[in-house]
Amino acid sequence: MNPEALKRSVMEALSGVLHPHTGDDVVSSGHVQNLEVGEGGAVRFSFLLRTEDPGALVKEVRAAAEAVEDVGSVKVNVQLPKAGSAPQPEAASGSGGGGGLKPGSVPAPTPAPDLLGDVGHVVAVSSGKGGVGKSMVATNLAAALAREGLRVGLLDADIYGPNIPRMFGETRRPEVSGEKGSEMIEPLEAHGVRLMSLGFLLEDEQPAIMRGPLIAGILKQFLEQVNWGPLDVLVVDMPPGTGDAQLSLVQTIDVHGAVMVTTPQAVSTGDVRRGVKMFERVNTPVLGIVENMAGEMFGEGGGERLAREMELQFLGRVPLDVAVRRAGDAGTPTVLSAPDSPAGSSLAEVARQVFSALRSAEEVKLP
Ligand SMILES: Nc1ncnc2c1ncn2[C@@H]1O[C@H](COP(=O)(O)OP(=O)(O)O)[C@@H](O)[C@H]1O
Ligand SMILES: [Mg+2]
Repeated sequence: MNPEALKRSVMEALSGVLHPHTGDDVVSSGHVQNLEVGEGGAVRFSFLLRTEDPGALVKEVRAAAEAVEDVGSVKVNVQLPKAGSAPQPEAASGSGGGGGLKPGSVPAPTPAPDLLGDVGHVVAVSSGKGGVGKSMVATNLAAALAREGLRVGLLDADIYGPNIPRMFGETRRPEVSGEKGSEMIEPLEAHGVRLMSLGFLLEDEQPAIMRGPLIAGILKQFLEQVNWGPLDVLVVDMPPGTGDAQLSLVQTIDVHGAVMVTTPQAVSTGDVRRGVKMFERVNTPVLGIVENMAGEMFGEGGGERLAREMELQFLGRVPLDVAVRRAGDAGTPTVLSAPDSPAGSSLAEVARQVFSALRSAEEVKLP
C-alpha cells in the first residue's frame, strides 16, 4: 500500500479509539498529532496525554495502529503537559511547590535549564535506608511505564551499590559517540528502558568509595554527558539515606517528584520521615510512599499509616514475593517476567499511581 493510503487507514483506525471519559475519538479531540508513515509501513505519531487521560489510552492507540494491515512498526511519541518551564527560583519564596520552604532552610535548587532539556519528567526513587527494595521499585516503575508506551530512562544514582545492571541483566559496556572533546556516553537499552549506571563503567567488584563532592560530579556527568535522547520520564534510583548525594542530585536537576520506599518495619526507624523532610526542604514534591515486602514476616500497614500521618499519598503495597527474587536472578523486571504474580500486579498498579501523581503534581505547578 502506498504511504498516503496507509496513513489514511491508520488515521481511520485511530478515529475508532474513543476516550473513556469524554466519548470523543482521539483524533478529533487532538490527542493524535504529526502522524507519519515511512518505509516499510513504519508509523509514527505524537500522542498528547493530558492529566485527566488514563495511561492505558496509549496502549490502546498503539494496538489500534498495529492492527492495521501493512503497518510494519508503530512508534508513539507520548507528550505530557510540560511544566518544566515554570520559573523555579521565584516559586521558592512563594507558597507553591511541594514543601513550603521555611525561612533559613536550604535554598531551593537552581537547576541548569538546559541540562536534560529533552527529558519531560524526572522521578527520584528514594528510601531512608538500603535494602528496602528501592532499586526493585525503580526498575519496575521504569519497565512498567516503558511497557505503556512512554520513552523511559533509568539512572542508577546509587553509586555505593549500583544494582540496576543486574536487575536488567545487562553486562555490556556503554559506547561512546561524538567528536573528540564532546563525547557522549550512549545509554544501554534493555526491556525498553534506556539505562545508565556506574556499574557499567566499573571493573567487576571494584568498590565505589566516594564522598559527597565526587558523587555530585559523577551525577552531573551522568546527566550532562549521557545521550539520554528525548525521554518522557527519567527514573532515578537514588542512593540510600538523606545525605550529600541526595541534596546534590536535587540541586543539580529539577526533580519533579520523589517516591519514598519503605518496608513495614523500617517505618519505625524515622529514616523515611527524614527522607521526606529532605525533599520538602529543597522544594521537591514527594509523590507518595510505597510499602514493600509486606507480608507475614514483616507485617503490613506501616507505610500506609505513615502516609496518612504525613499527609502523603499512599502509592501501594508490594508483597514479599519469590517472583521478585526470580526476576532479579533472571535480569527481567517482575512486571514483565511475572506480571500476574502478587508482586508483579501490585508493582504495575504502583506505576500507575506514580504516573498519575506525577501528572497531578505537574498540573499544580502549571502557571
Ligand atoms: N517484594 C519483594 N519480595 C521479595 N524480595 C524482594 C522484594 N523487594 C525486594 N526484594 C529483594 O530484596 C533485596 C533488596 O532489594 P533492593 O531493591 O536491591 O533494595 P535497595 O535498592 O533498597 O537496597 C533484593 O535482593 C531484592 O530482590
Ligand atoms: Mg539499590
